[in-house]
Amino acid sequence: MAEFEIECRNLVKKFGGFTAVNSISFGVKKGEIFGFLGPNGCGKSTTIRMVCGLIIPTSGQVFVSGKDATLEAEAIRQRIGYMSQKFSLYDDLTVEENLEFFAGIYGLRGQIRRKRMDEVMDMNDLQSVRQILVAGLSTGLRQRLALSASILHSPEILILDEPTSGVDPLSRRRLWNLINEITTQGATVLVTTHAMDEAEHCHRVTMMQSGQLVCTGSPAELRSSQIKGQVFSVDCASLFQALNIASKIPGVIDASVMGSRLHLRVLDLSLQQVQSALIKEGISVASIDLGEATLEDVFVAVAGVAT
Ligand SMILES: Nc1ncnc2c1ncn2[C@@H]1O[C@H](COP(=O)(O)OP(=O)(O)O)[C@@H](O)[C@H]1O
Ligand SMILES: [Mg+2]
Repeated sequence: MAEFEIECRNLVKKFGGFTAVNSISFGVKKGEIFGFLGPNGCGKSTTIRMVCGLIIPTSGQVFVSGKDATLEAEAIRQRIGYMSQKFSLYDDLTVEENLEFFAGIYGLRGQIRRKRMDEVMDMNDLQSVRQILVAGLSTGLRQRLALSASILHSPEILILDEPTSGVDPLSRRRLWNLINEITTQGATVLVTTHAMDEAEHCHRVTMMQSGQLVCTGSPAELRSSQIKGQVFSVDCASLFQALNIASKIPGVIDASVMGSRLHLRVLDLSLQQVQSALIKEGISVASIDLGEATLEDVFVAVAGVAT
């Protein structure tokens, strides 16, 4: 059996003279939630579309369940549930009619079709809106319907392109719970997001920038391997003035405001030294503690090196 359920080897996609995906390699293991992270325009959707066999790579290879995605696109499509970033639903059909339409595309008929439609509506809590026209649904509900449509045929591999973009926190939470449930049943999930905090829901992630992968690993591995120095969390007055001052302290490699605190990444500085430097500039510091690096810190660290 292949080691990976999805594997890309030296994958390249050029649009004219522009290289959108620049020789990337990664593997997703069976049963894993694999996060594909990176800012808008870095090449996530282009990669996903090559994995689904919807566009042909300029060079390199994609294997899905050990099969070449370009040569065996049809066979692979049956195994994949794909929710595109601009998911297409029919506004003038009800929730139920939309599902019926997609069930038809997947070749589900009769009793099986009814059973699967009920199951996915239960999973996504859509039973109460089954007769409602899609045009009247919130973004969160539309997203749940699009997800329902993509899992109707019980795919072994689920590929979600920015599924949480623009949805409210409750819908977001619910979606991650569902992704977890789907993987505990044995499916493999590849999910893209530009929200770094969402990576915490993934078993492993890769970070992309300008068409290239800059690091791959579990969130914990990335935090420990990619972050040099330490993270300090500072509770102080005049937060934005403090941010300005802190970012000029030699040894502070990154400074940001996180909630009501200052979040600093530092090299070879003690808590005491940073506290003194802030106080010297007139900032009153209530407390300063060792903090934990976030995946946003990781991205800033690796992206800074890559550019
Ligand atoms: N069909 C296309 N023709 C030309 N350029 C494209 C096409 N699709 C995507 N691009 C460009 O490739 C880059 C990566 O796009 P995309 O994969 O959609 O990024 P992401 O999903 O990470 O936001 C962008 O600069 C985008 O404008
Ligand atoms: Mg995209």
